[in-house]
Amino acid sequence: MKALVLSGGSGTRLRPFSYSMPKQLIPIANTPVLEHVLKNIRDLGVTEIGVIVGNRASEISAVLGDGSRFGVRLTYIPQAAPHGLAHTVAIARDFLGDEDFVMYLGDNMLPEGIVGIAEEFTAQRPAAQVVVCKVQDPRSFGVAELGPSGEVLRLVEKPAHPRSDLALIGVYFFTPAIHRAVASIEPSARGELEITDAIQWLVTSGAEVRASRYDGYWKDTGNVEDVLACNRHMLAELRPSIEGEVDATSVLTGAVVIERGARIVRSRIEGPVIIGAGTVVENSDVGPHTAIGRDCLVTGSQLEDSIALDGASVDGVRGLRSSLLGRSASVGTTDRGADHYRLVIGDHTRVEVSA
Ligand code: G1P
Repeated sequence: MKALVLSGGSGTRLRPFSYSMPKQLIPIANTPVLEHVLKNIRDLGVTEIGVIVGNRASEISAVLGDGSRFGVRLTYIPQAAPHGLAHTVAIARDFLGDEDFVMYLGDNMLPEGIVGIAEEFTAQRPAAQVVVCKVQDPRSFGVAELGPSGEVLRLVEKPAHPRSDLALIGVYFFTPAIHRAVASIEPSARGELEITDAIQWLVTSGAEVRASRYDGYWKDTGNVEDVLACNRHMLAELRPSIEGEVDATSVLTGAVVIERGARIVRSRIEGPVIIGAGTVVENSDVGPHTAIGRDCLVTGSQLEDSIALDGASVDGVRGLRSSLLGRSASVGTTDRGADHYRLVIGDHTRVEVSA
């Protein structure tokens, strides 16, 4: 079996971050989403992975390299424009050959892994196998209607009036039967070749399509709230380790990771918290549920339920919560007097201050 990982999407819901980095590289518990994805694929014993990349190809390959760091072999496949998930299968045709493959959306987090689902596929080997999860509001997903034994009766992409609450999550297993389906469909109303339509084509043509119910934790990390929620979930599993320096006046409670070269001075860290290499935290309270990247500076501040990317700094700000700070972003104080704010913020940035 091979794998196809999709990381070409532009990530408009993750602006402003997606202006300067591919959304699939947003760190969850200090590890990019794409690395979590590669690990789940490697756990299946699959090592030949095609990575679909768009205009941020160079940043993705700079982080993932040839895959040897993860024990896999990566082949980058450029997609000139976001023409849809089924289009990626078409452009990966040579890479995929006539093998079965797992297609995995590069912004989907399934921390419990997909080994059980892969075993179901290999045992029954239907033409295609989708994975579904019960959701509150299925309208922004592909939606599946299933028969009594898990066979797919109908799939509809983002229906206005969903006929079930089972959303397609971003993992699909295919036999080479999918290639004829992909070649047979037309672009959808949003102008994309939808994988949902290709799978529906298989259903209509009488092929066996099955669904696995997934009851584990799943997040499409497409927006800030979901990124933070997923970060909280991943941090809950954190195994404590202190490789950096912690001075005698600092207090650490709960699961805390202090990476090499980080320094904690006169501060309280309430886990789960991870503090990246080279970061300095001084006179501050950090945590719980907070991931701080590499080479950040946190002084005289209080920060919880948040993510700071590499090189970010927070100085003299208390009560920072549920925040996502981009690379080298800085949050500080102004000396222009009380009730003053000074903002230098980029496009599609969001600031919330107390009313
Ligand atoms: C895509 C699929 C959709 C699926 C979703 C899962 O949607 O088209 O069927 O439910 O991923 O994350 P997109 O994120 O491209 O809107």
